[in-house]
Amino acid sequence: MALHRRAFLGTAAAFAAGVGLGPIGRLSAQQRPALPIPPVVTPDANGAIAVRVQPGQMSFVPAGPTPTFGFNGNYLGPTLRLTRGSTVQMHVTNALSQDVTLHWHGLIIPGEVDGGPHQIVAPGATWSPKLSVDQPAATLWYHPHVYPTTAELVIKGLAGLLLVDDEEAPGLGLPSRWGVDDIPVVIQDRRFNGDGTLFHRFNLAAVSVGYVGDRVMVNGAFQPVAKTAKGWLRLRVLNGSNARPYRLRLSDGRRFYVVGSDGGLLEAPVAMDELAIAAGERFELLVDARDGAGFDLVTLPVHDAAIMRMAPFDEAVTLMSFDPTGADGAGALPDRLAQLPALPQTLPPVSQRFVMDMNLDKEGMGALMKAGAKTLMEPGGAPPEAVKALTALIVDGKALTLKEQLSANAVNGKSFELSQVPVAVRRGTPLRWFIGEGSDAMLHPVHIHGCQYRVISHNGKPPAPHLAGWKDTVPIAKGGSAEILVTFPHEAPTDAPYMLHCHILEHEDSGMMTQFSVG
Ligand code: C2O
Ligand code: CU
Ligand code: CU
Repeated sequence: MALHRRAFLGTAAAFAAGVGLGPIGRLSAQQRPALPIPPVVTPDANGAIAVRVQPGQMSFVPAGPTPTFGFNGNYLGPTLRLTRGSTVQMHVTNALSQDVTLHWHGLIIPGEVDGGPHQIVAPGATWSPKLSVDQPAATLWYHPHVYPTTAELVIKGLAGLLLVDDEEAPGLGLPSRWGVDDIPVVIQDRRFNGDGTLFHRFNLAAVSVGYVGDRVMVNGAFQPVAKTAKGWLRLRVLNGSNARPYRLRLSDGRRFYVVGSDGGLLEAPVAMDELAIAAGERFELLVDARDGAGFDLVTLPVHDAAIMRMAPFDEAVTLMSFDPTGADGAGALPDRLAQLPALPQTLPPVSQRFVMDMNLDKEGMGALMKAGAKTLMEPGGAPPEAVKALTALIVDGKALTLKEQLSANAVNGKSFELSQVPVAVRRGTPLRWFIGEGSDAMLHPVHIHGCQYRVISHNGKPPAPHLAGWKDTVPIAKGGSAEILVTFPHEAPTDAPYMLHCHILEHEDSGMMTQFSVG
């Protein structure tokens, strides 16, 4: 993969030489937007935060205005910032004309306030859960979790960051000036219809491979430029895409340091030059930009999902650029980060197995294969006929009936049922769980509510160092598996159970989800 070695900033020619984006992707340097920085919202004097889920409108594409959804705005939402040890009174008001819920992804809280599919907020209603925050500093996020419409709600714009602060983290001297050297990076792919509306369709392709966008946004903008401090930068990266995985790299090949994963800081920084991030995962990266030279965040073609290599993702795609010529840097890279509890010498026996199943695997993958999906992995890329046939399946493939959708995928052979809670677990007990997949060998980022866990083995081996910290979402692919060690400190009764599901939202909305109670 020839990665352009120069920074994009400066000339339009350099930009054009970079990557092939979709029709609106070729923005000149002047046209490129500034990186939107979602405003930080903290609890008010009464310890409350109000979140209004509302309709909006954006002008993303020349074709026409795009109807959207947002939290307290037109699209996406503010960054909610909570402190460990505090209790916040949330007020979630639904100003849409359809049901929503609001799930705090990664927050370790009781099932009653988790915001999963049982805590519906009807149009016009307000839901007011009290959240007691007790977990290490972390980059979490929030999004609706309605069965079976989560995918659509997130595509339309319902996602935001939720940061937890604790007493220890500030002492480490990490860059922490919001939008200056502490930079939110929410990556989401999208596809637009001819009239400017956002594409979304539950067809065979969607339940098989998930949402396949043809362009990508960061914080709701196309290829934005972040003017940052000249110094160490902290990137809080969320893969907020419905399905797409990324292979992140910096355009000049410079190394970066992973300092945090889903549920908090790692023990020590992990130097990497390439990072895979699946849907729902977060990583915090430290980048040395003390020299003030511009660079881009790019994604390379991925290994685990052929369809996700369709153009423009068959080449390096610039997600955003950094122009680190602002204020002097104030943060640094520490040697040590957080103290994580040691894993026990003797692990408990595996008490649960969760296998992600695809019931329409043969039909779905069969159709994609017939259309030429395999050629996407070949060195020259897919021939135009294959691209055309695959696009037709993704865009025009007939929508499934609701019944077909809900039975397309499963966990342990059973498609999700709101009224059935197949598993009950004991509160406060360390549990060892196995997570695997059926014969499809697809990528499934498996997420569990009510906890942060530790990966004890990944594909039969110890986890890579950057996956060895707190996680709530673990990707499995190619017939791989994970074993995790997890404890649930709170209760989740059978009428407010926790979810375990694939974070490919089209899989989640088509049955690849199960639920369990904790008591
Ligand atoms: Cu981010 Cu169950 O979801
Ligand atoms: Cu979650
Ligand atoms: Cu999946």
